[in-house]
Amino acid sequence: MAERKIETTSTMTLYEWASLAEDVQELVRRAKAAAENAYAPYSGFLVGAAVMLQDGQFYSANNQENVCFPVGVCAERILLGYTHANFPNVPPVKMAIVARRAAGENDYATVTPCGLCRQSISEYELKFRLPIDIYMYMPSGDVLHAHGIEQLLPLKFEDLNQ
Ligand code: THU
Repeated sequence: MAERKIETTSTMTLYEWASLAEDVQELVRRAKAAAENAYAPYSGFLVGAAVMLQDGQFYSANNQENVCFPVGVCAERILLGYTHANFPNVPPVKMAIVARRAAGENDYATVTPCGLCRQSISEYELKFRLPIDIYMYMPSGDVLHAHGIEQLLPLKFEDLNQ
């Protein structure tokens, strides 16, 4: 039987802080501030996410854990659920994610969205037919940028049927 390789590639860009656009810096600052209010008593992993909607509004949220661990929800899903619940016709266009370990004041960790969050982000891209720019803060102060969930979730559900 003949076979054919199918390859997927991801491209991301690493930005030094000073080279980021002002609105992206603001987004990251808001995600950082949101991480400070994370409710993460079980993991000690404080995650903040901020989103810019197409009309220029900024919103932020954080992870909310639960004593029954699987009930906890990531910052990204809390955030996109909130914005879509309240502004169902305004697409999210840019999102920043920041994480820090509760043990250390400036102990930041690189955070890339988990699989559930990637799928959830992809749903809003699908609905609005617009890619979401995802900015992931790194402890060095640099920021990793993915233009659209495709870069983080290749061959996602239904891709081959589109
Ligand atoms: N978490 C997020 O909020 N976002 C991510 O992208 C990765 C993980 C949360 C879930 C849990 O509360 C804690 O971080 C440790 O996994």
